[in-house]
Amino acid sequence: MLEIENLTVEVGGREILHNLSLNVMTGYTTVLFGPNGSGKSTLLMTIMGFSGYKVKSGRIKLNGEDITDLPVNERAKRGIGMMMQRPPNLTGVRLKDLVRVTSKGSKDTAKIAEELDMTRFLERDVNVGFSGGEIKRSEILQLTAQNPCLVLLDEPESGVDMVSIEKLGAKVHDLLQGPSHHCAGWREKSGKAALIITHTGQILDYVEADRGYVMCNGSVACSGNPRELLQEIRKMGYNECIRCKINRANVIEENI
Ligand SMILES: Nc1ncnc2c1ncn2[C@@H]1O[C@H](COP(=O)(O)OP(=O)(O)O)[C@@H](O)[C@H]1O
Ligand SMILES: [Mg+2]
Repeated sequence: MLEIENLTVEVGGREILHNLSLNVMTGYTTVLFGPNGSGKSTLLMTIMGFSGYKVKSGRIKLNGEDITDLPVNERAKRGIGMMMQRPPNLTGVRLKDLVRVTSKGSKDTAKIAEELDMTRFLERDVNVGFSGGEIKRSEILQLTAQNPCLVLLDEPESGVDMVSIEKLGAKVHDLLQGPSHHCAGWREKSGKAALIITHTGQILDYVEADRGYVMCNGSVACSGNPRELLQEIRKMGYNECIRCKINRANVIEENI
């Protein structure tokens, strides 16, 4: 289980996340909605432990262990894996070599690549000259090969065409439902945990989501049933969520 407690994060000298708290339970899929620029990617990058995301206060705990200061490779070893919204190009690194390392030599790579229509990309440098949809499929290929216990997905559906989204959605579904490698500290058979960022909510057609959060201006504005939240967002837009946050803040102030 992932616990984020009162997290405040600075990027490039600017505070982006403010006192943010949320939990992701083992065996549950949690969805994070939010308008552009609200800090969703910053949150995922901070959970994964990328440099440049400076935790000013608060804690990130994984299965009870404080991982706030652990380097990214140690977090990956503990079972966290991430699909980035905009991964970098890796000139000189072939996709098949990267996948071989992340999958710890798993023999399934060829099959997964075929299912994602990515076989011919295995010989190419990672993301170099890939289209938006190809980058997403490449990310899912790497993540499926890694098969982490905590799956972080940053807008898996963005930039993917209608045909590819079927394949991608099916793969995301399989990844979340299937058994994972053993990860230290995770209870056997308790299943994977997932935190999925979505702006449009399209990925909800492919995964069974259990809990939803809405982020506005670097903190959590509301939480609830993800489908109900999505319906509200589709009806009212994100402005209503920002109002809900303001209302809640007023209530808290009144109580004080
Ligand atoms: N390296 C950076 N330096 C300065 N500001 C940044 C940096 N990275 C992200 N930001 C800012 O943080 C805010 C949140 O960005 P992001 O987490 O990408 O939002 P989202 O994923 O919700 O669209 C934006 O205003 C963005 O410009
Ligand atoms: Mg983002």
